[in-house]
Amino acid sequence: MKNSPIGVFDSGIGGLTVLEKMYELMPNEEYIYLADHANCPYGVKKEEEIRKIVVNNVKYLESLGVKCIVVACNTASLFIDDMQKNVKIPVISVIEPTCKKACNESKNGKIAVIATQMTIKNKKYQLYIENENKLSFGVACSEFVDFIENDFEDFIKGQTLVNEKISCLKETGIDTLIHGCTHFSLLEDKIRKVLGDINYVDCGTPTSIYLKELLEEKGLLTDKKEGKIKIYTTGKLKDLNKNINLFNISYEKLEEIKNR
Ligand code: DGL
Repeated sequence: MKNSPIGVFDSGIGGLTVLEKMYELMPNEEYIYLADHANCPYGVKKEEEIRKIVVNNVKYLESLGVKCIVVACNTASLFIDDMQKNVKIPVISVIEPTCKKACNESKNGKIAVIATQMTIKNKKYQLYIENENKLSFGVACSEFVDFIENDFEDFIKGQTLVNEKISCLKETGIDTLIHGCTHFSLLEDKIRKVLGDINYVDCGTPTSIYLKELLEEKGLLTDKKEGKIKIYTTGKLKDLNKNINLFNISYEKLEEIKNR
């Protein structure tokens, strides 16, 4: 079991920002990444639909023989209980490790989260932050997902969109911003132009550290000498090819799989 791959999924390429960090921390592990392009974006869908899609994804990854699953998507992570109920292996959400890091790092206790429509509406992030006695601000930016997946090279369009959506945070006095959607750390340079040099927290590092601790505790860290990465899409190969170079990972294969 310990030498089995780690399953990872997102609605698209966003979760590769998490995979990148996992691979950096645990380069000997084998990873299977599922980009669910056929169902992207998740964040504007109805709850019931997302629930069905994400349960389907974890069952699929389990059928490939993975030892655990990292839900490298905040929107999907809202349905962690449903996913955990449907498979026998550990399923890990990105939300708690990310929130915890942001709350530990904020000095003035003012934290904003930018995320998909569904994640903001659900308020899981905001409630976590408020339970730590800090002030939270949430901004829904689902439009960023479509921009990243389809127009990422259009710098001006990207900057205009970012300005439009997050300028409202300038007056809040936040010292920490959570990228509460795994796609959004890809926009950090554009976001910095609006909010300046505050603390930015993405899901990749805290989730990877949490995963490593969990695997260690369960005796599930691999003893292989070299890791590898396979990336599948439920969409078209071109969905992966156009953006794959944004990531610092070397993969063994990119493949289309049939919509299950
Ligand atoms: N990357 C995802 C997240 O972290 C979902 C984006 C979407 O499909 O709406 O929420």
